[in-house]
Amino acid sequence: MKNTFHKGTNFLILALSTLVLSFIPCYADTNVSPGYMCSPEADNSTTISESFKTNLNNLLDSLAANVLQSGFYKAAVGKNSNKIYGLIQCRGDVSPTNCANCTNESIKVALHNCTNSKSAAIWFSWCFMRYSSEKFFGTWEGGSVGIYNQTDFDDSTAVLKGIGFMTTLASVTPNQLLMFQTSVLDVGQSGQRFGMAQCGRDLRRSDCGKCLDGQLVSFGTSVEKLRGWEIYGLGCSMWYHDFQFYSNISTPYSAGGRRLWHGVVGVSMTVLSTLTVQAVL
Ligand SMILES: *[C@@H]1O[C@H](CO)[C@@H](O)[C@H](O)[C@H]1NC(C)=O
Ligand SMILES: *[C@@H]1O[C@H](CO)[C@@H](O)[C@H](O)[C@H]1NC(C)=O
Ligand SMILES: *[C@@H]1O[C@H](CO)[C@@H](O)[C@H](O)[C@H]1NC(C)=O
Ligand SMILES: *[C@@H]1O[C@H](CO)[C@@H](O)[C@H](O)[C@H]1NC(C)=O
Ligand SMILES: *[C@@H]1O[C@H](CO)[C@@H](O)[C@H](O)[C@H]1NC(C)=O
Ligand SMILES: *[C@@H]1O[C@H](CO)[C@@H](O)[C@H](O)[C@H]1NC(C)=O
Repeated sequence: MKNTFHKGTNFLILALSTLVLSFIPCYADTNVSPGYMCSPEADNSTTISESFKTNLNNLLDSLAANVLQSGFYKAAVGKNSNKIYGLIQCRGDVSPTNCANCTNESIKVALHNCTNSKSAAIWFSWCFMRYSSEKFFGTWEGGSVGIYNQTDFDDSTAVLKGIGFMTTLASVTPNQLLMFQTSVLDVGQSGQRFGMAQCGRDLRRSDCGKCLDGQLVSFGTSVEKLRGWEIYGLGCSMWYHDFQFYSNISTPYSAGGRRLWHGVVGVSMTVLSTLTVQAVL
């Protein structure tokens, strides 16, 4: 396992200073957390007030209550130094039921694993939650978690085409209605490769493209020869596998919560994680 931590000067790095990665197996059809970042060190000097905690609870309630309408919700609660900004976004193919559950799981992490934090970013396979006392909506620099098995090399045909395929996906995703897109690559005898990309809906479309391109710049050389990888960022995330890990539902929010989940269920990609936290100046 390799952890790299590139420090930069972006405020997010100062704000989100504790990073926890889970080296848990990643199943196609389960919701696992690749990691979270919270800010206890940065906040040691300032005790978290009761009103901040109340505002955080109200914010989390509000995110849970409103995420199901479209799979994304952002809100701000409180005033002045106790003001807190937050957002929740589910992956574009995830059913409302799974979105609700993932939101609940994220709230548990927020309350149990980031208790003394004014800022947190919590990733799950199916949703992403972030909150901070700093207004961060629309900003995407700061941190990414890459998950891959560093020695699971792919066939040469797939290696030749894989990154180009994901680069194309990164270029079309910003133009999709929900800035979410899946795509299939045919690699002849080597079968098919499946890609998915998603941006935070608080981002501008042009920033969505920059965010995805930045992921490929940061992780491209690490993952270009690999059969599968996932990159979870503050503004956008990307997934690449040799099996269909996403649901076929094109508009999950009109599908009434049906759970149509495809892929090689139960086959695990055991994880090797590289963490890169970098500033884009
Ligand atoms: C902040 O507090 C935590 C828990 O008490 C401690 O582990 C950590 O070292 C502290 N960080 C700083 C920068 O003082
Ligand atoms: C999420 O939590 C709320 C409140 O605790 C609960 O009512 C709801 O059933 C939960 N949803 C899922 C899918 O677990
Ligand atoms: C919610 O997620 C947890 C953890 O992934 C899982 O154990 C539980 O069965 C899920 N509940 C529902 C209602 O999907
Ligand atoms: C949160 O902390 C608990 C133990 O306190 C741990 O079991 C759990 O895995 C943590 N959550 C995540 C998402 O890592
Ligand atoms: C990584 O992939 C290689 C090649 O497929 C495999 O032999 C190895 O067991 C995998 N490592 C882990 C930690 O899963
Ligand atoms: C889901 O899509 C894949 C190709 O992307 C296709 O092979 C499969 O038949 C589809 N499944 C259903 C249930 O539509």
